[in-house]
Amino acid sequence: MRRRIQVNQLRVGMFVEDIELGGHGNVTRSEPFLIMSNNDVRRIMASHVKTVVINVAKGRSLDRTASPPCNNAASYEAKLLTVYTAQEIERARQSIEDVEPHLKRVLDDARVKACFADDAARVAVERIMSGTLTNLSALIAVARLKEKDEVTFLHSLAVSALMIAFARGLGHAEDDVRLLGLGGLVHDLGKMALSEEILTKTGKLTASEMELVRGHPKLGYEMISRAGTAPMEVLDICRYHHERYDGSGYPDRLYGKKIPYVARLAAICDVYEALTTIRPYKRAFTRAEAINMMMNSPGHFDVKLLSAFVSKIVISGTIH
Ligand SMILES: [Fe+2]
Repeated sequence: MRRRIQVNQLRVGMFVEDIELGGHGNVTRSEPFLIMSNNDVRRIMASHVKTVVINVAKGRSLDRTASPPCNNAASYEAKLLTVYTAQEIERARQSIEDVEPHLKRVLDDARVKACFADDAARVAVERIMSGTLTNLSALIAVARLKEKDEVTFLHSLAVSALMIAFARGLGHAEDDVRLLGLGGLVHDLGKMALSEEILTKTGKLTASEMELVRGHPKLGYEMISRAGTAPMEVLDICRYHHERYDGSGYPDRLYGKKIPYVARLAAICDVYEALTTIRPYKRAFTRAEAINMMMNSPGHFDVKLLSAFVSKIVISGTIH
């Protein structure tokens, strides 16, 4: 009834009897314990444990028909450990927790009161900006693991961090970096006016649902405008991040340089983040696949900026 499994095969409900450091034969006896939450799984994966022995008579067994998305998340977590140290990952999780109350207030105020919590948004951006490049990179990587109810929160956080990294890579002054980070943080604020059902729907949207979703840039723009405190750059990012370079985007079908520069940056970060993210229902595209798809999406992006993103952010290894 005892089975040895790789640490990335651990699931909630498994009963662990032994943990093994660094491979076979290097067994550490521990009190047997039940994996109660995904946090338990993460803690073990962030340690030096390579394999564990589970007792399938006392807990969940290795489900070989388990859905691939769960395996995606687990193997992604394992891959993180090949790129970052356990401490860097832990620090990224800590940063996310530090930002959480502020960003959640921004999202909740938008959802419940349809208003923009400017002060909370600015605190959140300062906290994201305060990290080093390694912190920022790890933060983006960790934020890719999204639970269903955290999708908007973590997407906003990751796009903000990407905008900050990209703006710094382009050599912008820190005041401009801050504006771009703020724009990334609130770019999808209008989605808070949409129902939970639409936001979390994994199947194809109906025509009327699609219409509602396509209204989110304007809704966000109006919400932020009403506060009267946000700079033009932030409003532009909110309203125009779904415009396409060839004029086929929405809501105003702007084209080329008529699309504000900051919104052209945001479009790249937004799509890259969405493609490379792990979701419960889909696998993430690799960096190379995502860039390939974006490069082969003629008319969508400002090609010069996309090339800069690839060379300064992706190839340079700023993000993994
Ligand atoms: Fe959006």
